Amino acid sequence: MDRYAVIGNPIAHSLSPRIHARFAAQLGDAVEYSALLAPLDAFAAVARGFLEGGGRGANVTLPFKVEAFELAQASSERARAAGAANFLALRDGRIEADNTDGAGLVADLTRNLGVELGGARILLVGAGGAARGVLAPLLAGRPARLVVANRDAAKARELAARFAAHGRVEACALDAIPEQVFDLVINATSASTNGQELLLPEVAWGGAPLAYDMAYGAAARPFLAAARSRGARASDGLGMLVEQAAESWFLWRGRRPATGEVLAFLRGGGA
Ligand code: ATR
Repeated sequence: MDRYAVIGNPIAHSLSPRIHARFAAQLGDAVEYSALLAPLDAFAAVARGFLEGGGRGANVTLPFKVEAFELAQASSERARAAGAANFLALRDGRIEADNTDGAGLVADLTRNLGVELGGARILLVGAGGAARGVLAPLLAGRPARLVVANRDAAKARELAARFAAHGRVEACALDAIPEQVFDLVINATSASTNGQELLLPEVAWGGAPLAYDMAYGAAARPFLAAARSRGARASDGLGMLVEQAAESWFLWRGRRPATGEVLAFLRGGGA
């Protein structure tokens, strides 16, 4: 039985074990995927212990994604761009890191939600770890315009500068979003997860965009309700979670699980 785990703190709420159990059943693979709680000061010991004790790979969630990246002896280009990793694997005796979050977001947007990134006008709200993890894959889709808006505008400017080699990124404060019709508004702040309401100026909603919250379930509801009340379509980030899991599975095991039935299962109450 090949063993995998998701490591985080807290971790009891994680849907990843259920998602990977569905992938295993779908593909007929004998896989055990568990949730591991790491003490806040002992992520590296838990991750190393799991991988060196026979675990084939681990997903990493909050708050350990930067530590996971730093722990690894080798990393993919997209993990380096993000400066964070949600994926670890032990290969030839060394720990390798990758970041499948951005690919998960792009797959959900383009395959499940019908978004065409090429030529899109995108407003990405937030300039923390979550935003950093998805900027390069979004830019790879060649949007017409990508504006990063953050409460602290200096952090948005830092992020834009960091990704300048990947494409043009504009940066501004939340209350200085340019007059522009947006096709896609992404909430990459931690507001939803922290139970806070993210208040966006009206200029964000003028184009009746798709509003996307990277959080999922109850946490995302206030943002999505606010977006719908202004004429936007809205989606939470459950599809991103399933798609990043499928990308992880593919990297570990070389086969890509179908995500549609897993997402339907979770949306139907399996979550
Ligand atoms: P994460 O890894 O989830 O991105 P983070 O790196 O701590 O977490 O970043 C949190 C992001 O959410 C930041 O962009 C933060 O804005 P500031 O940089 O101005 O602090 C943003 N954020 C958190 N709560 C917010 C709120 N209530 N309204 C607007 N932005 C918020």
